[in-house]
Amino acid sequence: MSGKITLTMLKPDAVAAGHTGAILNKIAEAGFRFKSLKMTELTVSAAQKFYAVHKGKPFYDSLVEFMTSGPIVAAILEKDNAVADFRTLIGATNPEQAAEGTIRRLFASSLTQNAIHGSDSDENAIIESAFHFAQKETF
Ligand code: RTP
Ligand code: MG
Repeated sequence: MSGKITLTMLKPDAVAAGHTGAILNKIAEAGFRFKSLKMTELTVSAAQKFYAVHKGKPFYDSLVEFMTSGPIVAAILEKDNAVADFRTLIGATNPEQAAEGTIRRLFASSLTQNAIHGSDSDENAIIESAFHFAQKETF
């Protein structure tokens, strides 16, 4: 059965470019409810841990450098079929391949600096939500 939550991060490129409000609005308009929301930043060790699945890949170090380059916005989002529907809303990893109207197509500038993260499974949505938010920050 598909789950009801996913975890997103508005990445440093999107926040620095002033796209936070526009992206949060698109997420809300697509029917996601905000269970948790905050502006924060990742330390190098936190970014390495968050993206540990990519350790050893050629883009790992530049991904960690990018994700620690400035503030991010993290959120837990609630909706039926949250993981899959949110990945549809954000579009393909490479913004050049992302469908028209998707968040990455609209706001991302490159394969690494691609504006937004979305969990890739229900299991990871739960792990990533606990990574960013305490129970008292979740509603
Ligand atoms: P995310 O985890 O951030 O939501 O992105 P994703 O599932 O669409 O893509 P994933 O394969 O998990 O990659 C994580 C992030 O690493 C950067 N990346 N760079 N070849 C490259 O230069 C490359 N490939 C991936 C992107 O920022 C991607 O979102
Ligand atoms: Mg991923």
